[in-house]
Amino acid sequence: MKTIAILGTGTMSTGIAQVAVQSGHEVILWNRREASVEKGLGGIRKGLDRLLKKERISQSDHDASLARVRGVAALEEAKTADIVIEAVSEDLELKQDLFERLSQICADEVVFASNTSSLSITRLAKNSGRPDLFIGMHFFNPVPAMKLVEIVRGLETSDATAAKVTALAEKFGKVPIEVNDSPGFVVNRVVMPMINEAAYVLMQGVADAKAIDECMKLGCNHPMGPLALADLVGLDVVCAILDTLHREFGVAHYKPCPLIQKYVDAGWLGTKTQRGFYQY
Ligand code: CAA
Repeated sequence: MKTIAILGTGTMSTGIAQVAVQSGHEVILWNRREASVEKGLGGIRKGLDRLLKKERISQSDHDASLARVRGVAALEEAKTADIVIEAVSEDLELKQDLFERLSQICADEVVFASNTSSLSITRLAKNSGRPDLFIGMHFFNPVPAMKLVEIVRGLETSDATAAKVTALAEKFGKVPIEVNDSPGFVVNRVVMPMINEAAYVLMQGVADAKAIDECMKLGCNHPMGPLALADLVGLDVVCAILDTLHREFGVAHYKPCPLIQKYVDAGWLGTKTQRGFYQY
């Protein structure tokens, strides 16, 4: 698996692209909009600059890594990839449509992986023409810093596909853990209700945002509080995952807190818009 096509140019895609080029892979970074491709390439450069500044990588490693990524706006460019990792926004139809188009572009043996944070891998695989070669590869934010990759098997994912992406995640320097296809998999099913509850605690005036986060940092040894974490992940992403959990399990407990919904409606999406539970 030498060449990796990464679909999407947001925080997750650029983080995945960064770890991929750092581990010697060639990356084709795709977004249908040229401006977004440029932004994505800028994000990868920024991540590598950060490591250079910290003297974690040399200037030549930095430059060589950057030279291994190519930004493209035509999906057809993915045809030379050995694996596709999709990390576009959490929209089932959008993802299914991309995989259907890719099934016409890529050779039959190419593995398709999705970085979906909560959608069904089995459902995403449906129009891919290769359910045995389809799998979830779920990274965590910020990708360069977080060790885990959830490896999610769909109903028909083969052992060979699971073994291939497990080896790839290890080459990225990550720790892959296999989990079953279920809404939110493991991490988001556990962490999103905690974020939701923290939003209710704030909305009900039990404590302010800073106090809630300090309580969870000092009382549970979490590296950051749940509201700061929600801002990092993106309130739109948090809302989409909670909506999926709510829809799939039919339990009111997963319904997004009205405060999160209100912030999303206002465009307060967290660090990426400089405003969420906090101002940046
Ligand atoms: N990009 C790249 N690397 C980053 C980074 C970023 N945005 N932020 C921090 N790092 C790296 C730093 O370079 C540093 O690495 P080294 O030790 O190798 O130098 C390391 O992370 C620690 O960073 P700092 O000392 O600057 O800051 P910190 O100690 O406050 O850690 C943090 C920052 C890693 C983000 C930490 O607060 C943390 O682990 N927070 C929890 C993050 C988390 O839970 N993520 C999962 C969210 S759920 C999800 O992503 C799933 C989904 O589907 C939505």
